[in-house]
Amino acid sequence: MKFGFIGAGIVAQTLAKHLLLHGHEVVLSNSRGPETLSDLVSSLGTGAKAGTPIEAAEQDFVILSVMWPQMPTALSMVPDWTGRVLIDATNRFENMEPLVGELSGKNSSEIVAQYAPGARVIKAFNSVPMEWIKDYTEEKPKTVLFMSGDDIQTKQVLQEIWENIGFACIDLGSLSQGGLLQQIGRPLAGLNLNLLERYSVR
Ligand SMILES: NC(=O)c1ccc[n+]([C@@H]2O[C@H](COP(=O)([O-])OP(=O)(O)OC[C@H]3O[C@@H](n4cnc5c(N)ncnc54)[C@H](OP(=O)(O)O)[C@@H]3O)[C@@H](O)[C@H]2O)c1
Repeated sequence: MKFGFIGAGIVAQTLAKHLLLHGHEVVLSNSRGPETLSDLVSSLGTGAKAGTPIEAAEQDFVILSVMWPQMPTALSMVPDWTGRVLIDATNRFENMEPLVGELSGKNSSEIVAQYAPGARVIKAFNSVPMEWIKDYTEEKPKTVLFMSGDDIQTKQVLQEIWENIGFACIDLGSLSQGGLLQQIGRPLAGLNLNLLERYSVR
């Protein structure tokens, strides 16, 4: 499959490596233009390209990987989000300036959805520090990955991809309810659940 990244920093680079190793293609974008990413995509190797946010959003799946204050500008680069799958890896930390959006009982991906009208928003990867998943070997432990969203079919496709690239993916349900559990400060955010061994049940 083809993944576009809006944001080309730590999250984009780490996830791109895992995806590329398993035969997927990636398009990375930032605010400064594709030419600023040429060294990076060369180092990522075959299957990696630099593009604009619009080109990133044209891929099968788009991963939003910018800091929260840049989220509105980054999403506004894409004129029409209708029908696109937008995987939100961002976090809204209270000390960020500007602190875009009001939570009022919602989770931050619901705010993201307001800035990308018509997108099918999936919340994933926000609570997995990239330091945990820098092992790209076949022997790496499976890290538990939580995912929430309202599009059940898309989640099934993504679940298979995440499992295939080395995660143990748990679907927490809808964007509003599941998303709240994986929100920063909530019970499942930042839980390090590496599955070091497979246990057999007798
Ligand atoms: N780091 C982690 O371990 C981790 C783990 C889980 C979730 N997260 C979340 O993931 C998000 C990204 O984190 P990160 O650590 O990858 O941040 P980062 O390394 O600072 O990368 C942010 C990227 O966004 C780009 N960017 C900024 N403004 C943009 C715009 N308007 N349009 C397109 N791209 C833009 C930046 O490039 P330019 O400035 O050159 O445009 C940069 O490539 C954050 O919300 C963070 O909370 C991080």
